[in-house]
Amino acid sequence: MCGIIGYCGPKEAPRILVEGLKRLEYRGYDSAGIGVGTDGRLTVIKKAGKIRTLAEHIPEDLTGTFGIGHTRWATHGVVNDTNAHPHTDCSGRIALAHNGIIENFESLKEVLRSEGHTFHTDTDSEVIAHLIGKYYSGDLEKAVREAVSLLRGTYGIVCVHAEEPQRIVGARNGSPLVLGIGHDEMFLASDVTAIIAHTKQVVYLEDGEMASITPSDYRTSDLKDRTVEKAVEKISWELQEIERGGYTTYMEKEIMEQPESIKRAMGGRVEPEQATAHLGGLNMTTRELINIERVNIIAAGTSFYAGMVGAYLLESMARIPSFAELASEVRYRNPVVERNSLYFAVSQSGETADTLYAMKELQRKGASVLGICNVVGSSIARASDGGVYIHSGPEIAVASTKAFTSQITVFYLFCLLLARMRDMSLETGLGFVRNLQQIPEKVSQVLQSRQHIRELSQKYCGYRNFLFLGRGVNYPVALEGALKLKEISYIHAEGYSAAEIKHGPIALIGEETPSLFIVSDDHLKEKILSNMKEVKSRNGKVIAVCPKGDHEIMDVADDTIEIPSTSELFYPFLTVVPLQLFAYYCALELGRDVDQPRNLAKSVTVE
Ligand code: G6P
Repeated sequence: MCGIIGYCGPKEAPRILVEGLKRLEYRGYDSAGIGVGTDGRLTVIKKAGKIRTLAEHIPEDLTGTFGIGHTRWATHGVVNDTNAHPHTDCSGRIALAHNGIIENFESLKEVLRSEGHTFHTDTDSEVIAHLIGKYYSGDLEKAVREAVSLLRGTYGIVCVHAEEPQRIVGARNGSPLVLGIGHDEMFLASDVTAIIAHTKQVVYLEDGEMASITPSDYRTSDLKDRTVEKAVEKISWELQEIERGGYTTYMEKEIMEQPESIKRAMGGRVEPEQATAHLGGLNMTTRELINIERVNIIAAGTSFYAGMVGAYLLESMARIPSFAELASEVRYRNPVVERNSLYFAVSQSGETADTLYAMKELQRKGASVLGICNVVGSSIARASDGGVYIHSGPEIAVASTKAFTSQITVFYLFCLLLARMRDMSLETGLGFVRNLQQIPEKVSQVLQSRQHIRELSQKYCGYRNFLFLGRGVNYPVALEGALKLKEISYIHAEGYSAAEIKHGPIALIGEETPSLFIVSDDHLKEKILSNMKEVKSRNGKVIAVCPKGDHEIMDVADDTIEIPSTSELFYPFLTVVPLQLFAYYCALELGRDVDQPRNLAKSVTVE
């Protein structure tokens, strides 16, 4: 995710800004830049690539006592020097850095263009600099206030004007911003990591709040220009602890981020009143969407399991025959591309060679392939005929977690869109939207039970083999749970449909092989309950992930992980999180390198 720092004070701003940006590196980024003010001038330097590349391009004699810095993780526009922040307005006197996504940037841009503004980047952020320029008449804070009240979407911004030396103005809505109070110096940053080396006294801004800082003073206010008195808080964390945002590993951080990342995947895409979804990047007309007769999903690893959830949903809710297949298999089996079939290539990194080559093979045969990717501008995103970004933020741990829940979020949205064009009534659609919107809060509740899951992991991590069993929409979740355990703890685990154990895996059951069942309160529950009893009667230990207070399950299982209830098809969000945590804590207990497990890579660019 992008990072922000702003500084005003007696020290050399370029050095403080670059140091701050380095502290934000852990978040993942693809380009960086600074804007420094001195003697009524602004100097902006920005570079694609690492911060050390940026640092090499900063002239040694560049001085200045105020400025802003940014690390970009591309969402709108490819990674290059131009699209990096800070952005300037037409006068070149205003520089701005932005985190977040401005949803109405295209309409704002159109208006600004008609008023004579010239744009140089493909970013959504540049419109904010121009809007501030438009409203500026000697008071930066006032101009920022007027500009941000026109924005729809999320933002954390910092902004400077050449003629207002040592003043930085910030505003927040949905993207964090914190104010740091030092000795004769002040900071604004997206994350305390950037400033903790200088001060531990901070003021956290809330959505709809702004801050204006000078070296000796600050003011916090709301969008109506009313002063907001804020408590000064002391950061209790030490520098070393917060480099991963306070978490021991990236994987833990990424698991814990899921309520937020799911919200981001939904951001601006749900139309609650019409009970439908808006996915602008599909590049498909309503007619083309209505004409779809079949959906094929290709992917690898965790993305493949997300695709299986997607196929299940599309078939059961949108009533479209849908099928997920391993990309590595599609490529070499000379696939038949049917008319009116739609293809999805799902990939967190957007670089997985198996998926990319299968996609190209399908396109060669005339297929239209849409991408569902996290990394903007990645090879699959570029090669696709349209698609949807999941906006998870960088996923750094090799084992994928938050990308899975964001990928399935996109499938729920796509399913809603297609289903509402077909059989789904407005009333059913409204229920669907309600269930989806409740998911982030319910995922938070699952995360709160992590201590219990940790204790279970300590109890079970000594076993060498596991079965993960689920049915229906939770069958892919069982496969994903087994994959997570294998990947990071090196414990052998098999994912199966619970119905299938009688056709083979039941031979493995005994004291030495525990089974983890995923049970939801749907039409298959009774059948899974019978499978659980079959395991129990063969001395197999049973752990069950089940809805809270389900005594029928609790009476049979040796241990349970309770989750909140939801509507039948929405369970994968809530059942996968305990499995991620279970694998995580087993690996931790066994002393594994959780973030970089042996033999695995985050982005597999070879076949
Ligand atoms: C690798 C990673 C997995 C990931 C898979 C697909 O195997 O280790 O975590 O699920 O690639 O990656 P993609 O980036 O295409 O989703």
